[in-house]
Amino acid sequence: MDATTIRKDFPILDRAVHGRPLVYLDSAATSQTPNAVTEAMTRYYEEANANVHRGVHALAEEATERYEGARARIARFVGADPRGVVFTKNATEGFNLLAYSYARRRLGPGDVLLSTEMEHHANLVPWQLVAEDAGFEIRYVPVSAEGELDRETFSAEVATGRVKLFTVTAMSNVLGTINPVDELAAEVKAARSDAVVVVDGAQSVPHLPTDVTAFGADALCFSGHKMLGPTGIGVLTAKPELLESIPPFLGGGEMISNVTLEGATFNEVPYKFEAGTPPIAEAVGLGAAVDYLDGIGMEAVRAHEVSLIEAVLPALDQVDGVTVHGPTDASRRGATFSFAVEGLHPHDIGTIMDREGVAVRAGHHCAKPLMRQLGSPATTRASFYLYNTPDEIDALVDAIRATQRFFDI
Ligand code: ALA
Repeated sequence: MDATTIRKDFPILDRAVHGRPLVYLDSAATSQTPNAVTEAMTRYYEEANANVHRGVHALAEEATERYEGARARIARFVGADPRGVVFTKNATEGFNLLAYSYARRRLGPGDVLLSTEMEHHANLVPWQLVAEDAGFEIRYVPVSAEGELDRETFSAEVATGRVKLFTVTAMSNVLGTINPVDELAAEVKAARSDAVVVVDGAQSVPHLPTDVTAFGADALCFSGHKMLGPTGIGVLTAKPELLESIPPFLGGGEMISNVTLEGATFNEVPYKFEAGTPPIAEAVGLGAAVDYLDGIGMEAVRAHEVSLIEAVLPALDQVDGVTVHGPTDASRRGATFSFAVEGLHPHDIGTIMDREGVAVRAGHHCAKPLMRQLGSPATTRASFYLYNTPDEIDALVDAIRATQRFFDI
């Protein structure tokens, strides 16, 4: 995989900011979009724009084919059954769906929802919103100083037999840590046969080969805009029988089988969970993103990112006053680096780096509990993707040094 060639597919990467070439290191927040995706969406609007599933005319049929074709290819991309692939607005909506339609009804007093201190808000707040009503308890697995889950505490929690739902990120958006989801899921299910495992794939699906069956999980949520797709679309994939067994989340058109003034019966899965006109062009765009990633190969994407990790960690180690959070072993992490620079606030670092043309994220990264664990309200985060080159590691280091000079550190 040659990142320099790949960059030609991403026109935005040619632009300048503040008179300098853009160095985009914020893909963990939103990735950039290749021509193949924007062209697929434009073609959809120019050739086949119509509502899906309900028209008898040619355009409606073509729109439906493109929408359902995208679902089938996205399902294949993560090893899921297309009947278990629900299009949502983003990963966050997927967690909300599971919290309201599953956890609120299936968990109750005496049950524990086990989560981790590594989760971002999308995989914390939805469960918190329903926990009180349903009467279940939420408990958290701590994170070690090395940025790994505390396996002893995890095992002790699971051994109580009270854990009915375990949710975990496959890759931390702050630390880059890759969690052994398959091992964790197996332990949860061995301790309690009716327990379900929900995985946050927002950071992992864009960067690692994914097979939801190998995870041994019941559900996986991810977002389109972090994996070269458009904003406004995400995916919840779950076992079809799980989706069949729970009530709808949002009501409206598409998700019904019949409606009377007294009530409604519901469509089959996954349509039962897709109320209203869905994000059709966005699904087509995400389908094209998956084709693009498949064309390169997720093993190649991961290999490229491992080579970046192996270069970024020693490069940052050379900069006085810089501390990188998270695992130091490339096999245990993704190419997302949260770091502290002694004597500087992350927002100041991010602002001065931006003036150098380097786009990073500064703040709590929607993971305030983890920030508290790190003992800092914020970090600066540089996150790499398939289009980033080794030159951009030099640009990152130069920009950090420029920030230190600016503040006379
Ligand atoms: N989108 C958030 C991030 O940047 C959660 O990590």
